[in-house]
Amino acid sequence: MTIIVTGGAGFIGSNFVFHMLNKYPDYRIICLDALTYAGNMSTLKSVMDNPNFRFVKASITDREAVDKLFEEEKPDIVVNFAAESHVDRSIENPSVFLETNILGTQVMMDACRKHGIKRYHQVSTDEVYGDLPLDRPDLFFTEETPIHTSSPYSASKASADLLVMAYHRTFGLPVTISRCSNNYGPYHFPEKLIPLMIANALNDKPLPVYGKGENVRDWLYVEDHCKAIDLIIHNGRVGEVYNIGGHNEMANIDIVKIICKELGKPESLITYVADRKGHDMRYAIDPTKIHNELGWLPETKFADGIKKTIQWYLDNKDWWEEIISGEYRNYYEKMYGDRH
Ligand code: NAD
Ligand code: TYD
Repeated sequence: MTIIVTGGAGFIGSNFVFHMLNKYPDYRIICLDALTYAGNMSTLKSVMDNPNFRFVKASITDREAVDKLFEEEKPDIVVNFAAESHVDRSIENPSVFLETNILGTQVMMDACRKHGIKRYHQVSTDEVYGDLPLDRPDLFFTEETPIHTSSPYSASKASADLLVMAYHRTFGLPVTISRCSNNYGPYHFPEKLIPLMIANALNDKPLPVYGKGENVRDWLYVEDHCKAIDLIIHNGRVGEVYNIGGHNEMANIDIVKIICKELGKPESLITYVADRKGHDMRYAIDPTKIHNELGWLPETKFADGIKKTIQWYLDNKDWWEEIISGEYRNYYEKMYGDRH
């Protein structure tokens, strides 16, 4: 079995590469990644010498490079993680989100059509469903919830999902789509809530909470997401969407307070800053379908997962300190410099 994993130098893609190489020693795993600001070769250093692993630096929007790779490797499965993934950046500059997330998806699927494939899997997000109100805890996203997006990021992911379903219906491409809630864990880029708060707290810097900090996200340990995708590509039904989430809803402010407590840092570091434009209030996944059809259940409880994650950031300072000392500093200054 040969699997192309796009975006495998990023947060979830790299965790998926590790999971697959570990679980299926006879599979060949090819990582296709453009190494944008979010992709990091040092993340993959533990697998670079694995004879079943190959890294190829190219963009999923590069038709020629993608075609060449398909000719060389004749993949059985493609799992498309590659994307621009940060909502705040999509508000600053939507264009690259449309190029990578929509047109890149098209290029990957065209290659699948041309060369033949057993499965094309699109890694999507619960953000395509928009948001839920805080005062209706009885409501959850199911696979039937209408698509209703808020940010250029979620709109680009939703557009890609529509294109994936169109390629299935029109061309018979054997596709599946997964829509997962917020992930956390090792190798999470420090622009996102949890790693940003850990890094800032460790450096005794202000912890910038948007608005009142009452927005709710449904957090899942990254390994549980990887295991769900593994199940879907092997046993999921073609043409189906699967929601992934572990019923772990938490308000942002509570997450930040947990991080302060775990690190022994004062809550006085918390600074309320201007809210995100169009800020989604609450995400909450109903994972009944993937549980009933594929037997998936989350294995890591938040209380354990957040401890493991914080420990990982303590043990791997080199990884994130290198990131926050580079181009990231300009990003941080632009985003947070005068955000009151
Ligand atoms: P990430 O930003 O950490 O990593 C993205 C990776 O894609 C990087 O390695 C980057 O170099 C690569 N990439 C970007 N543009 C590319 C291009 N044109 N060609 C090839 N590679 C390119 O993102 P992540 O958090 O790991 O998310 C991975 C996927 O999962 C995304 O599709 C995202 O929408 C989805 N998702 C993320 C979450 C989450 O909580 N992080 C939740 C649900 C779904
Ligand atoms: P993020 O990690 O960017 O994920 P997403 O927006 O895709 O859910 O943000 C998670 C939540 O944390 C979201 O409600 C925005 C909020 N947030 C802050 O309050 N401060 C920050 O500095 C960041 C990056 C996010």
